[in-house]
Amino acid sequence: MANRFTVILAAGKGTRMKSHLYKVLHPVCGKAMVDHVLTQVEQLHPAQIITVIATHAQAVQDLLGSRTKYVEQTEQLGTAHAVLQTEKLLSQHSGTTLIMSGDTPLFTAATLEKLFAYHEQQQAQATILTAKTQNPFGYGRIIRDDQGQVKKIVEQKDASAQEQLVQEINTGVYCFDNQKLFHYLHQVNNDNAQGEYYLPDVIELMQKDHDRVSAYLMDDFEESLGVNDRVALAQATKIMQARINRQHMQNGVSLIDPVHTFIDEGVQIGSDTVIESGVVIKSGTQIGHNCYIGAGSRLDAAVLEDNVHVMSSTIEKSVMRHDSNIGPNSHLRPQSDIGPEVHIGNFCEVKNATLGARTKMGHLSYVGDATLGSDINIGCGVVFVNYDGQRKWHTDVGDHAFIGSNANIVGPVKISDHSFVAAGSTVTGDVPQHAMAIARARQTNKDNYWSKLPLSDDPDWQ
Ligand code: UD1
Ligand code: CA
Repeated sequence: MANRFTVILAAGKGTRMKSHLYKVLHPVCGKAMVDHVLTQVEQLHPAQIITVIATHAQAVQDLLGSRTKYVEQTEQLGTAHAVLQTEKLLSQHSGTTLIMSGDTPLFTAATLEKLFAYHEQQQAQATILTAKTQNPFGYGRIIRDDQGQVKKIVEQKDASAQEQLVQEINTGVYCFDNQKLFHYLHQVNNDNAQGEYYLPDVIELMQKDHDRVSAYLMDDFEESLGVNDRVALAQATKIMQARINRQHMQNGVSLIDPVHTFIDEGVQIGSDTVIESGVVIKSGTQIGHNCYIGAGSRLDAAVLEDNVHVMSSTIEKSVMRHDSNIGPNSHLRPQSDIGPEVHIGNFCEVKNATLGARTKMGHLSYVGDATLGSDINIGCGVVFVNYDGQRKWHTDVGDHAFIGSNANIVGPVKISDHSFVAAGSTVTGDVPQHAMAIARARQTNKDNYWSKLPLSDDPDWQ
């Protein structure tokens, strides 16, 4: 909208997180907190979105890119000082500026829209989004006069014992008349417990000047949760997770145990898919219809087509085509492409390999750096020996090949269509079509083995 502007405050030090990572970059369900905030703000289509970042906070810019403008705050002197950094970009415009923090990841666009609507309807110069909680510790408190008019906001560290009892808190989200905002920001001082320039102090200044200050009380405190430490980060994650899971269930996905199912933001799951307890699904994963994801599986940027079954397995940056299955206890490492109706059974590992349709690998095998055709049978305990200590080598296996149990396939080799590798072979050369490769010592049987053993009372034997 033409006369709506948004400022996201994201320059704070985040000392309470005790982290090398900028606070606003900490992820909630796989997405940085500030990205959650920006995503909701974008839905309001403001004329400008400006994010205040610390100097050289390149990581924030790398993440958000050109979705927002940036201004730098060289010293973190407080939230009022942070907003003042946007003065050059904003102060000449007339309109409404929404200010929020990059550490409140749970706000929805619907709530922000209601705040705008209320602010406009009240014809206020400032509207604070407030919430009520029985445990307001840490938040700024909304102090009202006898008539219920907002007088000021008092920070936790500056609040008197009486003020600390107030359960209505400042969510850190505000709508301001843009020009009034910058006028008053210059009057804010840092005469308080933290020696900071507090944005909420603008409210008292406006009120004293008889500007119209209103407050919009939202009914869901949870949505306003501010994340200042790891405890709140875990709380925010839990709330976000419940939201994400509810959405999937409404879309026709069965979660057997939603409280213990951990699905990142943006994951796509088709209807009639069933997900058991303890499953972790990370960003970038897409799951088709009618899949079954068994307990304890972990999918990270995995793509599963329809009717795929995964039993207690890990899949990273790999594709499983329709009607394929894996597990229990197998691992697809990055760049693996598992063809339709492929069966990968127990304790197998696949890395950077393609398996063609209907190929089977039931037990205890490793396939790395290989292209396998269709209808291949890999016996038990087969190892693709892809590394010579310096380089990785690629192996090709043709359609309908049969690799016997416990074979070592030493790359680079080409095993052609319809060929057969005898069990226990160590294959170091190409195998032509329809041939059988046998590469192991021939068995010899020694006669009378037991009679040649030393007797148990022989002193040499004991
Ligand atoms: C702030 C509010 C408090 C409110 C709470 C809601 C102030 C003084 N207090 O407290 O009333 O209840 O949010 O969650 O505003 N930031 C900067 N530059 C700075 C300081 C902070 O960009 O110099 C950013 C931070 O990155 C953060 C946001 O501003 O995203 C809020 O700062 P924070 O220190 O988390 O304030 P709170 O103590 O949570
Ligand atoms: Ca905060």
